[in-house]
Amino acid sequence: MMAAGMDPRSSWSRTTPADLERSLFLPGAGGFLAVGAGGEALGCVGYRPDGEATLTLNKLATRPGARGQGVGRLLVREVEHVARMGGYERILLAVSQYNLDVLPFYRRLGYVRCDEPYAHAHPASPPPVVLVKEVRGEQTP
Ligand SMILES: CC(C)(COP(=O)(O)OP(=O)(O)OC[C@H]1O[C@@H](n2cnc3c(N)ncnc32)[C@H](O)[C@@H]1OP(=O)(O)O)[C@@H](O)C(=O)NCCC(=O)NCCS
Repeated sequence: MMAAGMDPRSSWSRTTPADLERSLFLPGAGGFLAVGAGGEALGCVGYRPDGEATLTLNKLATRPGARGQGVGRLLVREVEHVARMGGYERILLAVSQYNLDVLPFYRRLGYVRCDEPYAHAHPASPPPVVLVKEVRGEQTP
């Protein structure tokens, strides 16, 4: 995550190992690490349930040297697979106001903007853009 080069104003850059532990080890929560042929980390993603219908995707990052090769898309697809297997209706995620350049990436993967507030927004940060994708009934590609 920290190698992703996020804007230092985003709450992402203040994430601590304790924050990660709290988020990734909740019941029903988890994540994936994409690993290269030599065992090096290429990217990561996390997820956590927010109610029965929603799986929240978070902490998506790929190393700058590994970008543009489909690793980010693969990590998102894995979380979508978890959502379908778990019977969730949709994936929700938040994009920091300091990271709006990433919106086209999610649009390509079928995510659309919605107006609801983000439950895990950092109180000291501007409200993020919330994106959702319905996954119920969708076939795994
Ligand atoms: C966003 C991020 C995870 C994308 O990772 P990646 O491994 O480069 O993504 P992929 O190679 O799987 O890209 C999938 C597609 O999206 C496109 N894409 C990737 N980043 C894009 C961007 N910023 N804008 C538009 N398109 C983008 C790719 O060209 C590719 O297109 P294709 O379908 O024609 O092949 C990576 O840029 C990153 O870690 N950014 C910093 C952290 C971050 O912003 N995380 C998201 C927090 S909400």
